[in-house]
Amino acid sequence: MILTVKLNDNLDFPIIGLGTYNAGKEGEVEEVVKHAIDIGYRHIDGALVYENEKEVGAAIKAKIAEGVIMRDDIFVTSKLWNTYHKPELVMQGIKKTLSDLGLEYLDLYLVHWPFAFQEGGSLMPKDENDKFIPSDVDYLDTWKVMEECVKLGLTKSVGLSNFNSEQIQRVLDVATIKPVVNQIECHPYLNQSKLIAFCKERGIVVTAYSPLGSPNSIAMADTPAPLKDPKLQEIAKEHEKTAAQIILRYLIQHGTVPIPKSSNKERLKENIDIFNFKLSPQEMASIDALDRNVRVCTFAEDHKLYPFNIEF
Ligand SMILES: NC(=O)c1ccc[n+]([C@@H]2O[C@H](COP(=O)([O-])OP(=O)(O)OC[C@H]3O[C@@H](n4cnc5c(N)ncnc54)[C@H](OP(=O)(O)O)[C@@H]3O)[C@@H](O)[C@H]2O)c1
Repeated sequence: MILTVKLNDNLDFPIIGLGTYNAGKEGEVEEVVKHAIDIGYRHIDGALVYENEKEVGAAIKAKIAEGVIMRDDIFVTSKLWNTYHKPELVMQGIKKTLSDLGLEYLDLYLVHWPFAFQEGGSLMPKDENDKFIPSDVDYLDTWKVMEECVKLGLTKSVGLSNFNSEQIQRVLDVATIKPVVNQIECHPYLNQSKLIAFCKERGIVVTAYSPLGSPNSIAMADTPAPLKDPKLQEIAKEHEKTAAQIILRYLIQHGTVPIPKSSNKERLKENIDIFNFKLSPQEMASIDALDRNVRVCTFAEDHKLYPFNIEF
């Protein structure tokens, strides 16, 4: 059984989940998610922009039909894409996700990024210079409709993703329903200690995305990979665990909720086999010391609401 943490609206959030971005080629994702549920995953992280919600939903539906889980046993997160930020489009975004997943409600719906893109066409609208075409929507207007989604029962909770501390505070200053989560990139090379502390003080749980540093992503090709770090390898050896398990355990001991992605049966199992050991305060401190501001996930840097230009 996966342990849970209480969100600020009193709902239980399983402390590790399955990432589904690039979770396999078409036709593979459903099998990955089914297998993950079979071996105990109870938290699935998805998004409209991953363009695989039909397969994710089919897997959940199959496992409910088989009696492996009931709908209430599984925590399903999705995210509002940047081309759906206009207040009149938010409902369209969540309804598309619900229809693709084949679910009546989400457990958590996040604003994927604080910035918006031109609506109505491609999910990644670009101009002739290959620059993203922005849309001038203020995420506070988007947030009002996110709250409506809760009131209508389309999602139990709402939250943010990739918001910096100033952007979170702007939302908190007007929210009648508080964000329960901020989902951000977080791993030993970008440990986010300041933003985590900021969120904690405000009752917001941090979900750690790319928790393993997204080792196979193109962006990581020329970047140091935390999984290969000698210190992590050394700690892994002492605990007879893998570097991935040390990282995931480290993130959980810091109170964050990692959502590693794997499409491989052994690694899916490995990534949740982290509840039978503990890192000492000294080990936690030595992993803290590996922080080096390596960010894997970044794009649309010239958007005026780009979140990563301030310290945290
Ligand atoms: N909110 C956002 O903007 C945002 C952005 C990025 C990601 N996310 C979410 O976070 C999830 C995870 O992030 P991510 O996919 O970027 O990176 P990640 O989980 O850090 O890394 C995934 C990569 O690590 C490999 N891997 C998994 N377990 C491993 C293990 N035990 N040992 C060695 N390698 C392992 C996987 O390969 P195999 O599949 O071959 O195992 C895959 O290539 C995404 O799927 C998505 O749900 C959210």
